This record gives sequence, structure tokens and C-alpha cells, in this order.
Amino acid sequence: MKRVITYGTFDLLHYGHINLLRRAKALGDYLVVVLSSDEFNLSEKQKKCYFTYEERKMLLESIRYVDLVIPENSWEQKRSDIHDYHIDTFVMGDDWEGEFNFLKEEGIEVIYIPRTPEISTTQIKNDLNYVMK
Ligand code: CTP
Repeated sequence: MKRVITYGTFDLLHYGHINLLRRAKALGDYLVVVLSSDEFNLSEKQKKCYFTYEERKMLLESIRYVDLVIPENSWEQKRSDIHDYHIDTFVMGDDWEGEFNFLKEEGIEVIYIPRTPEISTTQIKNDLNYVMK
């Protein structure tokens, strides 16, 4: 069984996220999503989520392409996640192109998937803010 892993915040789940998850799952048989915790988002990414970790987790677990959701609490956990979950392929959107090539040292594939154009959580927040005024 080929096991794939990906990381992200996935706040206000949108079709760009679904495209990414569908294409990640198609690269293997089992998809692990490492979901940034609320604390990690605030302290490391300066992101305040609209949905809580538990809400974002429940949404992701409802998607047919997702087999397991675990928390992301640090930047450094990737190497141990790869070993703990017997990962073959690491996937990120191409906004992270090149950033994680060092993980190939762990004997895995590192693949960057093209982002879906013109949609992001930030864009949704900005558009709603504009409409609600
Ligand atoms: N993603 C994508 N296409 C988009 C938006 C996101 O493929 N249009 C991918 C990202 O590249 C990443 C994953 O979805 O691999 C989770 O991204 P995340 O940062 O949670 O979503 P964004 O919509 O980019 O959120 P933000 O605007 O807060 O950065």
C-alpha cells in the first residue's frame, strides 16, 4: 500500500483544497492529512482560523479522499511523521515548490501539485469582508 502525506490549515474548506486532496490521494492508496493546530497557526503562521481545529478536522474526515487526520504542532515533526506513518510520498501545493526537497533524504518522493487558480482562504475572507460592509 502506497501512503501519501500532506500538510495544511484547510480553514473555510474550498474547492482548491478538494482538488489538492483528490490529486494527493490519486498518487497512492492512503492519504494522511496533517492539520495545523490552532496554536501552531497563531504562533508560527500568524493565522487566526475561522473554524477551530476540531471543526476543520471533522470537515476533512468527511472527505472521501482523506483516510487520517493528525495534528501539526511544529515545523520539525515532518521527518518523524514520515517514519511513524510509513510514508512513501510527501505532497504540497506548488506555493511551497522546492521548500521540502530535503525530505527526499528520508527515501520518499516529494511532489508539488499546481495550486487551483483564483481561490484561497484569504481570498474568501477578503471577499466576504468586502460584501458584508
Ligand atoms: N491549495 C491549492 N489550491 C488553492 C489553495 C490551496 O492547491 N487554490 C493547497 C495549498 O497549496 C496547500 C493546501 O491546499 O497544499 C492547504 O492550503 P492552505 O494554506 O490551508 O489554504 P489556502 O487557501 O492557501 O489558505 P491561505 O489563504 O490562508 O494561505
